Amino acid sequence: MSNAARDSNATANPSPRRPDAVTRGILELKRRLNAVILAHNYQVPEIQDVADYVGDSLGLSQQAARTSADVIVFAGVHFMAETAKILNPSRRVLEPDRDAGCSLEESCPADRLRALQSTNPNFYTIAYINCSAEVKALSDVICTSGNAVKIVKAAPADRDLLFVPDENLGAWVMEQTGRPMTLWQGHCHVHVEWTHTAVSRIRREHPDAPLVAHPECLRPVRLLADEVCSTEKMVAYCRQSPARQFLIVTEAGMLHRLRKECPDKTFIPVPTDTCGCNECRYMKLNTPEKLLDCMTHLAPEVVLSPDLIRRARAPIERMLEISASR
Ligand code: 13P
Ligand code: SF4
Repeated sequence: MSNAARDSNATANPSPRRPDAVTRGILELKRRLNAVILAHNYQVPEIQDVADYVGDSLGLSQQAARTSADVIVFAGVHFMAETAKILNPSRRVLEPDRDAGCSLEESCPADRLRALQSTNPNFYTIAYINCSAEVKALSDVICTSGNAVKIVKAAPADRDLLFVPDENLGAWVMEQTGRPMTLWQGHCHVHVEWTHTAVSRIRREHPDAPLVAHPECLRPVRLLADEVCSTEKMVAYCRQSPARQFLIVTEAGMLHRLRKECPDKTFIPVPTDTCGCNECRYMKLNTPEKLLDCMTHLAPEVVLSPDLIRRARAPIERMLEISASR
């Protein structure tokens, strides 16, 4: 059954599945390799269910930084696996599919960022974690959707802020902080699919269900939301809310996580205008079979030069420090 078909049943909560041969193979290799499996909230249910930790970009970075496992198997997209390697370079970092990129990362090549930075020596560059290691190395500080407001608030008052590469997250952070920023013109191919018309329609059908949206969505959609937040904060919001039903505006994988964490609540995926295509084409390249393969062959492995690791690490560590501060 496809994810779309599975998720069309808004009331279906996941039931525990019997481990199949692929899952058993993954668990056996995990033990033999002394590996930890980190999975993003958008991964398919079978991968989420076999992972040691499932979360958002911030939580995954924190887990990668502190793990004592010899091998980090990263089921997410490439920039996330790179971040894990940068934060814990002595570990072997494996990814199921090297082609699992991100439209935001692709929108912002390092040479174009360098050219823009050279136009204003007073720029202070804040890079959303959805970017390459090279772009991180050119940045003053990194942020995720979970801490972007805090990171921007902590930015030096006398600098001109340049926010890359997501213009929608950047615009939302400007609204939250009142801090003007120059925004890179990048966007996520999934989150820009939702329109005000499509979201208004389903809101009318479920007037009592809070609408929860990711900040990568367009402004007209964000304005309709009761809560705009990172994927992990969606779990916390829905858990503590007295509401029984929620409208979810983000990638389809999130529904499995929410249904697992809040089995007594109902999560309704909000359709787009055109189709139910709320799946990230990159996240969905990963399959349980590819996860098993990468652990079997110890490849694809994330390999970065020590110099790039050193340069990209400083702005990520700055983010983790600010994030942990009060
Ligand atoms: P989160 O950090 O909120 O999980 O977002 C990552 C992402 O890629 C959203 O599209
Ligand atoms: Fe990138 Fe969008 Fe996929 Fe997130 S959902 S990894 S921002 S393309």
